[in-house]
Amino acid sequence: MDKSTDRIIIFDTTLRDGEQSPGATLNVEEKLTIARALARLGVDVIEAGFPYASPGDFEAVQKIAHTVGTENGPTICGLARATKADIKSAAEAVKPAVKGRIHTFLATSDIHLEYKLKKTRAEVLAIAPEMVAYAKTFTPDVEFSPEDAGRSDPEFLYQMLEAVISAGATTVNIPDTVGYLTPSEFGTLIKGIKENVPNIDQAIISVHGHNDLGLAVANFLETVKYGARQLECTINGIGERAGNAALEELVMALHVRRQYFNPFLGRPVTSEAPLTNIDTQQIYKTSRLVSNLTGMFVQPNKAIVGANAFAHESGIHQDGVLKNKLTYEIMDATSIGLNDNQIVLGKHSGRHAFRTRLEELGFDLSETDLNKAFLSFKDVADKKKTITDWDLEAIVNDEIQQPPELFRLELVQVSCGDNACPTATVKIVTPDGEELTDAATGTGPVDAIYKAINRVVNIPNQLIEFSVQSVTEGIDAIGEVTIRLRHEQKIYSGRAANTDIIVASARAYMGALNRLYGALEKRKVNQDNLSVTV
Ligand code: KIV
Ligand code: ZN
Repeated sequence: MDKSTDRIIIFDTTLRDGEQSPGATLNVEEKLTIARALARLGVDVIEAGFPYASPGDFEAVQKIAHTVGTENGPTICGLARATKADIKSAAEAVKPAVKGRIHTFLATSDIHLEYKLKKTRAEVLAIAPEMVAYAKTFTPDVEFSPEDAGRSDPEFLYQMLEAVISAGATTVNIPDTVGYLTPSEFGTLIKGIKENVPNIDQAIISVHGHNDLGLAVANFLETVKYGARQLECTINGIGERAGNAALEELVMALHVRRQYFNPFLGRPVTSEAPLTNIDTQQIYKTSRLVSNLTGMFVQPNKAIVGANAFAHESGIHQDGVLKNKLTYEIMDATSIGLNDNQIVLGKHSGRHAFRTRLEELGFDLSETDLNKAFLSFKDVADKKKTITDWDLEAIVNDEIQQPPELFRLELVQVSCGDNACPTATVKIVTPDGEELTDAATGTGPVDAIYKAINRVVNIPNQLIEFSVQSVTEGIDAIGEVTIRLRHEQKIYSGRAANTDIIVASARAYMGALNRLYGALEKRKVNQDNLSVTV
């Protein structure tokens, strides 16, 4: 069986490694929304979570397997340490998927063996194939990762890979867990594996890597030249520490430079056939969705999906682009699903036009959500002359993609000015249905609002990030506020958009507090269940 392929498999781990970013915690519904978007994007494999890690993770993986892991949908994968309990849990979680995968891992670097696992090479060399064989009893599709492969002794790595492939691993993933390798080192590592693991043609070679030195994408592209055929990546490059390799950068590099990569995949140089299954037109939308739901801001100069990625500021560049786009552009903004940001709707637009445009933008809303978003649109259209696609996206995200409103903000009112003491009044309905009004003063209007809200909600937290961005240009632009707060070492985010940034600030804070409150309530329920079982 020769497992080599002439196309690159995109393995998305936004919902597993990506969700490990501080503050990127997502609830089950949000994970499902992202999984659906990933399926539309065309990823081959969705690593949906780490089922043994928590009941919430298990539930999310199982739901994704059930709803997104359909006949024509992606493979749904669950992560598991190399233990029977982890593997069994991953197997149960991915079972509803038509194509389910178990991804099990065990470290192979001496540093990890000595300090983390306290095991010898011989011990892990015995455990890994045994666990792969155990995983095979649940599904034919088993991936194995020798964690910290980038710092492992290559000779030991070869032995490990040969053993797990003999035990049935169909994908062997080579992780640069700490983002230490350089492109030529990673390329050489894959070349060595190809040359020294006798049964390597029975498995797909995959790569996984972190961006600690900003090299993850460059590293992966180099490995493609030596036989890596699965790339593990995340939307916007989110993930543990400095993040993972960014899906959009890998896909667009393979797309824009396919003539360069074609020969490495055994194709004629001029072949126009895509190197991945990704529908590149979905990239921008998916990036925005992940950013909105995780509260992880995309830096303006981020390649492919940053706000400035297609903007030309210098007069010389603008002149060149007007004469011929090719002078300064290597790809067209429309190829990632960005349109020319034309004015689409206004105050007099009806529900039909609104629904049609949202469908064109790829939103798939239920009737209830559509009605909610339409009311919000009418409200904005009263204050803002022209509604662009960016505005529409902000309105929908603000209205629909909010955590459950456990505490509901009914009213926010501020008075401030250069000779006034900033004062805010808020009216909030608590989860018990009680309506509470309170007021506070602060160093500025937002500070006053947050203090007033804290007096009602009363959950101690530390505000660690507050940012305001304008969605479009102009005095009547919608402002988008993102905030992150910390409670007991965990980070919770909130985002809201409004033509009034004071209102957006209040709503963003309420969003983050609702996430925090929801998590605390969930923890309470889990503890109660545990005490009942014990
Ligand atoms: O970075 C890493 O090594 C991982 C493994 C679980 C693949 O995320
Ligand atoms: Zn990782």
